Formats: sequence, C-alpha cells, structure tokens
Amino acid sequence: MSAPSDTQRMEKIVSLCKRRGFVFQSSEIYGGLNGAWDYGPLGVELKRNLKNYWWQVTVHERDDVVGMDGSILTHPAVLRASGHVEGFSDPMIDCRTCKAHLRADQLVEKKGVKQCPNCGGKDLTAPRQFNLMFETHVGAATDESSIAYLRPETAQSIFVQFKNILEVSRKKLPFGIAQVGKAFRNEINPRNFTFRSREFEQMELEYFCRPEQGMELLEYWKEERLKFYKNIGIPRSKLHVLTVPDEERAFYSKGTYDIEYDFPFGRQELEGVAYRTDYDLSQHQKASGKSLEYFDEETKQRFVPHVVEPSAGVDRTVLALICEAYSEDQAPDEKGKMETRIVLRFHPRVAPVKCGVFPLLKNNPQLVAKAKEVVALLRPHMTVFYDESGAIGRRYRRQDEIGTPFGITVDFETLGEKDPALRDTVTLRDRDSMKQERVAIKDLPAIFHERLA
Ligand code: GAP
Repeated sequence: MSAPSDTQRMEKIVSLCKRRGFVFQSSEIYGGLNGAWDYGPLGVELKRNLKNYWWQVTVHERDDVVGMDGSILTHPAVLRASGHVEGFSDPMIDCRTCKAHLRADQLVEKKGVKQCPNCGGKDLTAPRQFNLMFETHVGAATDESSIAYLRPETAQSIFVQFKNILEVSRKKLPFGIAQVGKAFRNEINPRNFTFRSREFEQMELEYFCRPEQGMELLEYWKEERLKFYKNIGIPRSKLHVLTVPDEERAFYSKGTYDIEYDFPFGRQELEGVAYRTDYDLSQHQKASGKSLEYFDEETKQRFVPHVVEPSAGVDRTVLALICEAYSEDQAPDEKGKMETRIVLRFHPRVAPVKCGVFPLLKNNPQLVAKAKEVVALLRPHMTVFYDESGAIGRRYRRQDEIGTPFGITVDFETLGEKDPALRDTVTLRDRDSMKQERVAIKDLPAIFHERLA
C-alpha cells in the first residue's frame, strides 16, 4: 500500500530548504531552469556528509571494493552498446489543450477516460518514445561524427574501465568498483522538488562475481543497503523493499529490488539493487572487440563476470534525510511561553553543522574570547558555527532549524566568576531533548568523538 501524500508538510520543507540555504532553484533570478537545483551552504554540507559516509562504508572500510571517477562526456559507442541510444526512453504524450508534455504514466483516468493532469483536457496525442539522454557535440564540428552524450548513469564508465581496474587493483572475484557522480536525464516532467531532476548524482557500486554467486549477493547487498539507511537516520519502518516483478524488470536482470521511502508525496524509489548478470560486460566486449573476461587462476577458466548493482540517488537520499528530519514541537520562548519549534532531527553523522558555539553576551570580551577558543579547539574535528547575535534562545532555535545536534554556551561560570570549580566548563545542549549538561572544555573533543561516530 502506498503512503498517503502530505502536501502541506512538503510545502513547509521546500520553504525551509530555501529559507535556510539547503536548496535553491537553479538560475532562479532568470526564472529558473526546470529540473535543475543548486545546493546552498547547508545543502552542500549535508550532501557531502552523505557521499563521504557512503564512500567510507562502501570503499574505505572494505578490502573488496575500489573507487573510480569517470568522465561525464561519453562516447556514443558506449551508450549504443549498453542499449541507451536505442532504448533509454519514456513514452511521451502531449496535451493538445494546454500543450503540456506528459509521461504516459502521469495521465489521470476518470470514468475510464484518460485526461491531462494539468488542465483535464482529453485531446491527447498517441504515445511516442522520447529518448532521455542529453546529446552534445565534442570539438568544433557539429555533425553526426562529433556526437557525445552526458552520461545517463555512472555505471557505464565502470563497465568500460573494468579491465583496466582489474589489472591495476589485482582484485579477485568477488570485488566491486564504486563511483559517485553526476548523471543527466532529460526527464519529460521533473517534479516533486529535487526527487525527479534532469541533473542529479548517483552513488553506484558494480559488484562483480561468479555467475553462481549472483542471487546470494543480490540478497547480501539489499541488506547492506538497508543497514546504510538506518545508519544515516532513516528508520527501517519508513523503507519498503519492492521485489520488481518479472514483467517490469530489465530483460537481462535475474532479480531487482527497489528500496522505497515514504516521502510526504508518497512512496517512491530511493535506490535500485539489481542483479544484472553478465549483460553489460558482454555487450561492451561484443561492441569493442576487446576481451572483458576474468581469468580464474585456480580453475584456469576464463569467463565474463556477472554483476550485482546497488544504485542510489544522492539527491533523493538528501531529500529523504530532510523529510525524515523535519519536525515541529513545542518549546518555551525567552519568557517561558510555549511556541512552535521547527527542528531538523538529522542523525549527527549527516548534520551539516555539528555544533553551535555561543558566548552568552557579545559585548563581553572575555566571554567572546573564550567562545572563540572553543571554536578553535573543535574546528579541526568538525563543522562549527559561531553565533553571538541575539538572545540565546533565538540562537538555539536558529540551530535547531538547520539540525545542529549540539550547542555550547560560554557563560559567566565558564569564566569562574560564580564558582572557581566551574572555570573552563560550558553548557552542552542536546538539540532533541533540549537538555543541558555542564562539561569541561578540555573534554569536548572526546565527547564529540563518541557522539558523532
Ligand atoms: N545504473 C542503474 C540506474 O541508473 P536507475 O534506477 O535508473 O538505475 C538509480 O537509477 C537511482 O538514481 C534511482 O534509484 C534514483 O535514486 C536515482 N535517479 C534516477 N533518476 C533520477 C532523477 N531523474 N532524479 C533524481 N534521481 C534519479
């Protein structure tokens, strides 16, 4: 059953993203470029934390995976061999009334009659295939011979470099090649904020194996990926594993799972985990005439490896993180009156700013100097935001709204004015419980090391 949509919640999230600098419409001052987004100062930190954590657990913490970073401009032969030139398309229908271009599956049906979802018009064209790839030209000539494509997925450069990477890394099967990078699809109808964009990033792993290991590794990677989402703060209860039915699976795949998340606009795909058999390597071997076989030294056999592919969207996961984190609760204002607090409950691991540091008063040089000392102590270890302006409660709220998990306040006790035993201690506030504890400045790095791990 798909999750109900919550339009109001989504509107609040989109508005917060712009107000606090997570995501802006691309080329906004010129009216915007549809399907393209710019990440602001906080959005870029969140996105980097996500990609870095994926890279850490997928590449750095494993002996059996290496990374690569392929070019975005892609030789047409690569995408002919992979089937994208011929078949990477969606059925498109035009509404003759409002001139909208629509994906066939976006039409609404009322009393058995298909209608345009924008204007309700029933005068629709027959569906025709629309190729989603962005074509460009390389070099000065703009003819057939200079065509290149912006890659529609990062995966193909991994397949094309399989032999080189196998040779230099000296890995034995099973092993994987990971890549994080941009992909481009000229989506007919980009929508749901960043969810369906024309320019987006993917985190893809191609995990090569022997044919008999494929199905088992498909299960293994599905479970690994579910663990990953839990570790960045997306609970298992909000994720759904869809077993893609035979008739909807790519013809070469022996099994595919979609990992879906309950977004405020409904249940939608975050990631695909697919057992793609030896299709991709075989296609490139055939088209290039170069051997992409693996030689098994033990059995002395040569064969084209099979592959299991977990392929996740960076932008979709960032959006899921923001949707999951967004919450409103009640908290006392400066005068003790309850007010609505907007708080992003990010897992500390992905939070764009880890800690806010506040001198109680900005016009007290000793408090300010001490607070800046705390900033200097912590900055080599994490992202820290120093804020001295406005009432302390307001400063806490500003950090709550961007999901900063910890706040440190330097007050008169820090200066030892009330009790010498409290000299060089600060209050450490927890974003979610709003509870404060008194801790020694010198202990802060160790405390954060434990709480941010
Ligand atoms: N190499 C396999 C592949 O590209 P896909 O299901 O087409 O498979 C993988 O894409 C992931 O990339 C999706 O699960 C999604 O997270 C992300 N993705 C695909 N199209 C997207 C789009 N138009 N906007 C944002 N993310 C997209």
